[in-house]
Amino acid sequence: MRIRILGSAAGGGFPQWNCNCQNCRGLRAGTLRAQARTQSSIAVSGDDPTAWALINASPDILKQLADNSVLQPARVIRDTALAAVVLTDAQIDHTTGLYMLRESTRALPLWCTDSVYDDLTRGNPILSLLAHYCGVEHRRVALDGKAFRIDGVDGMEFTAMPLRSKPPPFSPNRDQPKIGDNIALRMVCTHTGGSALYAPGLGAMNEQLWQQIHMADCVLIDGTFWTDDEMIRLGLSKKTARDIGHLPISGREGMIDWLTRLRAGARRILIHINNTNPILDEDSAERAQLNRLGIEIAFDGMEIEL
Ligand code: MLT
Ligand code: MN
Ligand code: ZN
Repeated sequence: MRIRILGSAAGGGFPQWNCNCQNCRGLRAGTLRAQARTQSSIAVSGDDPTAWALINASPDILKQLADNSVLQPARVIRDTALAAVVLTDAQIDHTTGLYMLRESTRALPLWCTDSVYDDLTRGNPILSLLAHYCGVEHRRVALDGKAFRIDGVDGMEFTAMPLRSKPPPFSPNRDQPKIGDNIALRMVCTHTGGSALYAPGLGAMNEQLWQQIHMADCVLIDGTFWTDDEMIRLGLSKKTARDIGHLPISGREGMIDWLTRLRAGARRILIHINNTNPILDEDSAERAQLNRLGIEIAFDGMEIEL
């Protein structure tokens, strides 16, 4: 199994178009040692190197496709290596890219839970609009703990696990989250047994998820914010990280606490990083702390083989 990080930033990307926080300003000015990052998405492939599942469809997908030539095998006049799209939630940063795929020559195979499907046909009816273009072939992601396979992406199994985070602001369940609004995806290579756990939005740990995280060879997990009050302190929001469904990296029961309990040898990689997060600054103390702990930070173009 190969995983390619297409976009390692949270919603807004890095730098964010209207943001002048220390990070965004520093990156623009060239005074900060940091890498630009596009919005949240990964791609995974199994036996066939020309067939990939796109996990989350970022607003930046066109740049991501241009930057990752493996996704364009160029066998026929209209071609793509994208065999299916899987969504971990209905957030704008994970779904807007579907609009950019509207020229697809076939209905897009789209895997999502029932509550994500509901949000994408009501609060943000993107799937209904797409019916006027390529359309989607909806495949239901069940939450029964059973593995599913994706046509074309052979040699891989996927399992969805519900988790506590938040549905998008436009969701009728924003304040009463439903099971299936957000999932983690476990991905296993059926040949090597190598496994990865992808959870770009994780608001609280639960026992079942923790067990899965513990078993994975590689964890790609919510690294949105360093502190719970990051956005409040910068005057950018009145909400904490936890309020909007993201466990902060530092602090009690934060992501560091969890990740440092994993077995030696397991890769722990933070993903979905918000532009305000000090870990983006390669010279920051926070970055040095993660380096010491062996916690990696995803970057666009990162490749993982399992
Ligand atoms: C989130 O996960 O909270 C998002 O990045 C929000 C957004 O897309 O604006
Ligand atoms: Mn997001
Ligand atoms: Zn910023």
